[in-house]
Amino acid sequence: MSAARSRKIWNFSAGPAILPPEVFERAAEAIHELKLGGHDPEEPGIGMSILEISHRSPPFDAVVKGAEELCHSVLGIPSSHQVLFLQGGASLQFAMIPMNLRHAERPAAYIDTGAWSTKAIAESKLLGPTEVVASSASTGFDRIPAMPPAEAYAGASYLHITSNNTIFGTEWAQIPSSGAVPLVVDCSSDIGARATAYDRIALGYAGAQKNLGPSGVTLVFIRKDLIGREPVGVVPKYLRYSTHAKDPSLFNTPNTFGILVLKLMLDWLRGQGGVTGIAARNQRKADKLYGALDQSSLCVPHAQIGSRSLMNVAWTLGGAPEAEREALTKRFLAEADAAGLSGLKGHRSVGGLRASIYNAFPEAGVDVLVEFIREFERRS
Ligand SMILES: Cc1ncc(COP(=O)(O)O)c(C=O)c1O
Repeated sequence: MSAARSRKIWNFSAGPAILPPEVFERAAEAIHELKLGGHDPEEPGIGMSILEISHRSPPFDAVVKGAEELCHSVLGIPSSHQVLFLQGGASLQFAMIPMNLRHAERPAAYIDTGAWSTKAIAESKLLGPTEVVASSASTGFDRIPAMPPAEAYAGASYLHITSNNTIFGTEWAQIPSSGAVPLVVDCSSDIGARATAYDRIALGYAGAQKNLGPSGVTLVFIRKDLIGREPVGVVPKYLRYSTHAKDPSLFNTPNTFGILVLKLMLDWLRGQGGVTGIAARNQRKADKLYGALDQSSLCVPHAQIGSRSLMNVAWTLGGAPEAEREALTKRFLAEADAAGLSGLKGHRSVGGLRASIYNAFPEAGVDVLVEFIREFERRS
């Protein structure tokens, strides 16, 4: 495979998602032989594949420490927070968070922006009192609700939000401040997409499979003062943050390859001008796509202005007569597929269409989709 790997398909999948060609290239190289340094083809490797080295070996220690360092220096996670690479996806965090951060007698507070927050809420309810302090359910999760007044969650163990809802295509314009109540954020689908006020976040988590690499690694960052908090009730050792923080990310065998690819992704992000550089490109891509949808008389974006995601753009063919919508959506998807535009089917809970345009998704692919939408409308 060459560095100029030709891309025949524009992959709009919501995750696992497209990665940059340079990252595929370097990951493939590491499967043959791991190199610890930069991109120099002359640089000697370690004589072994990333897939065969021990997670307790010095080369892997360099990988995990390097990945941690890049989370701080490239993403901007402050040194007050411990970075961990865990397993079990964001879904395991839905359970680990209430297990570890609940105080006896104090409810956990959640803002419900649909689907993923709803699942996080359900897990918390299994473990103790849980309050939904704001929700956009009544409008079909088409927006981020207003931040509730501080009194609504003042006595809570923590307040949980989902920074970007992958399914409904809504995103908080910025991370809100929750005062003295620890803010917990599911950043799975917009981590690294823009500069983020990490100092407002007590615990953040993200499955890697959108902006950070392959599935099977979950980035968790937790304020160090919260790690040692004794959980309420019995929490198995493996499910405690303190266990994973002791010898960071190496309590048991981690996803060694996944952590390497996450490191390569952060290296790549640094080369794109970091979160500020990529944010400008993400904004341009989103503006082009929302612009085309807003101009269209056929397409109706799901998210309201002010809540629109930079990463996941969801829309329906709501401009068509209702009886024709389903068939038209099917035709859109079939023709898009034939034109090399893949992964545009909306999530089954919303229907319609969705384009995920994560950090690694090229602007040229957005241009192709915009042209396709205009052409489809002309023919419909
Ligand atoms: C915002 C958000 N949270 C949580 C999840 C669940 O992640 P995982 O499959 O890693 O458990 C997803 C998956 O797409 C997501 O988009």
